[in-house]
Amino acid sequence: MMEHGEVQEPADLMRLQKYLARAGVASRRGSETLMTSGRVTVNGLVVTELGSKVNPRTDQVRVDGVLCSIAERAVTIMLNKPSGYITNMSDPQGRPTVADLVPVDQFPGLFHIGRLDLDTTGLLLFSTDGELGNGLLHPRHHVDKTYIARVDGFLNAQEVKRLREGVLLDDGMTLPAQVEILERSHCATKLRITIHEGRKRQVRRMMSFVGHPVVELERIQFGPLTLHGLKEGCWRLLTPSEEAQITNAAKAHLAAAEKEDRM
Ligand code: URA
Repeated sequence: MMEHGEVQEPADLMRLQKYLARAGVASRRGSETLMTSGRVTVNGLVVTELGSKVNPRTDQVRVDGVLCSIAERAVTIMLNKPSGYITNMSDPQGRPTVADLVPVDQFPGLFHIGRLDLDTTGLLLFSTDGELGNGLLHPRHHVDKTYIARVDGFLNAQEVKRLREGVLLDDGMTLPAQVEILERSHCATKLRITIHEGRKRQVRRMMSFVGHPVVELERIQFGPLTLHGLKEGCWRLLTPSEEAQITNAAKAHLAAAEKEDRM
């Protein structure tokens, strides 16, 4: 209930650090640092006060002079990426990009959360909510990602054990992974692998390390999300329940990271 004399805040005002995070500029904490270091202006005036609020519809927010923007309502979609598309929103060399496959005109500000290699297929998430991306791809707290890989040769029990325990790549040891053999012959193995990090070409490098290069790679799960029959090359909006699940996952990662930062 409002106290006598209290001024009610219009519903469409938003804390500036939340606005900056939603715009994908930085995490909320990072945005606070940008503000306190005098790099953020609202309608031309430097704003350093952390409680400050903005109207996302009418106020002009800039960081280092660069205008920021957020969609009126955050939109998150998934794409079943086909092979042959690079994970970029544009390409100066004119190659096919994932932006050709998602509704960028309908949802301005859409960006991909993470990457899949040119030849990797499967679940790729997009959002207009920068904060969601920050949470899901936090350097220390990546969501789990599950892939089906077809690799060259017979992957033996010793090699599976090494993948499960961690292998030494040129950027360090991998965290333990879940690995399950689905099919195996002397010339090829199909496996399911879940990793908890997001290093570049990680699955391909892990499989090459144990001597079984990837022939085909598909991502079937990203955090709590699965494709649910979405056809290759098609996209769909997340259901409200999926939105809640992925938002909660992102929030949990950010909270864990901020707790670690404070320790
Ligand atoms: N690991 C890879 O090697 N490639 C991908 O596209 C995703 C994960």
